Amino acid sequence: MAIQRTLSIIKPDAVAKNVIGQIIARFEGAGLKVVAGRLVHLSAAEAGQFYAVHKERPFFKDLVEFMISGPVFVQVLEGEDAIAKNRDLMGATDPKKAEPGTIRADFAESIDANAVHGSDAPETAAVEIAFFFPGMNVYSR
Ligand code: TYD
Repeated sequence: MAIQRTLSIIKPDAVAKNVIGQIIARFEGAGLKVVAGRLVHLSAAEAGQFYAVHKERPFFKDLVEFMISGPVFVQVLEGEDAIAKNRDLMGATDPKKAEPGTIRADFAESIDANAVHGSDAPETAAVEIAFFFPGMNVYSR
């Protein structure tokens, strides 16, 4: 299995709860390494562009409002099979459906305030890493 890079976001609800460290510990415990990271307060334009794929969905406006409600921690995780591994650690989009022990089961409140984002494929990982860390090697093959 290839070494990949993936984009992870610790969303405003989890940053406000002061659990950035606890969430990063989950990634590190599973063998993923933080190779870039910073705290950023997104503008509505940036959040809308990042989630442009969802712009026709009924939840889009609320999603953008939530993502700009406070700072987020954006980071690049690297490791064996990092994209799928991160998604497994995150758990299902709706925390009520997330497996026990996943980040969303343990830290998320609802489907719209669900603690973390993670790229879902090599193509989206490349676009999302470039969005926040222009010029960085996306590495995923
Ligand atoms: P999606 O890409 O489907 O989920 P994931 O984050 O697990 O990859 O959706 C992106 C975000 O949009 C999701 O994390 C939270 C929000 N969202 C809602 O608020 N309501 C919904 O019904 C869905 C599907 C997503």
